[in-house]
Amino acid sequence: MTKRLEIKRPDDWHLHLRDGDVLAAVAPHSARDFGRALIMPNLVPPVVTVKEAVAYKRRIKDALPPESAFSPRMTLYLTDTSSADDIAAGFTDGLITAVKLYPAGATTNSHSGVTDISRVETVLERMAEIGMPLCVHGEVTDPAVDIFDREAVFIERVLAPLRSRLPELRVVMEHVTTSDGVDFVSSQDRNVAASITPHHLMLNRNALLVGGIRPHFFCLPVVKREVHRQALRKAATSGDSRFFLGTDSAPHAVEAKECACGCAGIFCAPNAIACCAHVFEQEGRLERLEGFVSVFGASFYGEQPADETIVLERGDEQCDFAELVVAGTQAIRLFDPPEQIHWRVLDGSGFFDATLVPERRII
Ligand code: DOR
Ligand code: ZN
Repeated sequence: MTKRLEIKRPDDWHLHLRDGDVLAAVAPHSARDFGRALIMPNLVPPVVTVKEAVAYKRRIKDALPPESAFSPRMTLYLTDTSSADDIAAGFTDGLITAVKLYPAGATTNSHSGVTDISRVETVLERMAEIGMPLCVHGEVTDPAVDIFDREAVFIERVLAPLRSRLPELRVVMEHVTTSDGVDFVSSQDRNVAASITPHHLMLNRNALLVGGIRPHFFCLPVVKREVHRQALRKAATSGDSRFFLGTDSAPHAVEAKECACGCAGIFCAPNAIACCAHVFEQEGRLERLEGFVSVFGASFYGEQPADETIVLERGDEQCDFAELVVAGTQAIRLFDPPEQIHWRVLDGSGFFDATLVPERRII
């Protein structure tokens, strides 16, 4: 039996759109389902200054059809030498929504990131004063710390001390992956929130590693034990407004993922909302989907949810999502969840289909 669900148009509070051909290929997929998205600044070179962010926003707009109402919200990439004045002016002028902290070396294009949080104390103090959010990639890079423990150790070594020093600073733990992260956020006041990805709600580390390594399930922070996935599902479906959707949709060329040293990132924007609907239905909490995908993030960032709505449909047949998106000479593989998805978003725009390649690619 077909079921329909109408919800306010969702927002994506953590999105990688890249640049050039990839930007042109992926941006329309986000614009189809999402009204707003917080755009990650880890380009090469990174988006550090307000001027660079404004230029990048223009390129994003140019990659979309003129009729698209998609609104990119820009972030700046924090470095050891970032200017507090530039950052603060960008926020006060309404050009920049948040600052992104990548510990240097933690993930894709993070080598210009912060080498020690003490080096950006002045910037963080200024942000706390003006109420500007800090989005954190919450993993330590200490080689002595096991990759599966890096989030928990980040909380202990960096985040908890930061909260004590600067309780007024608004912080988002991006793509939280552990029960430690969920517990930490839950124990804090309203200045702390967390984004959660669809893939961390659907994958555990067995999905990544049992029966063969699956490079398209590799992202950072890496997917964890089942107990952590369960904690994330509980948080996402709890109705607690501190947990909201950030897809972390991160396109990489197939060749860059399917190789001896495959890079981290899952391209999930096109089916992110369908996957979330699937998870919320499994948890018996479909009535809370709208809060997670369309309301809570906006309210953390001080905005109203969308007036517009989208319609999701659940059919008896499994949804047949596209496998690849073509970007110039590259192909990008779409997240292929390990379970059958029956939900899809009904599309009113019709402008995005051109870049989809339905046939299976032979590797
Ligand atoms: O898996 C990831 N991919 N995690 C990140 O933090 C960065 C992202 C990317 O940019 O590819
Ligand atoms: Zn990311």
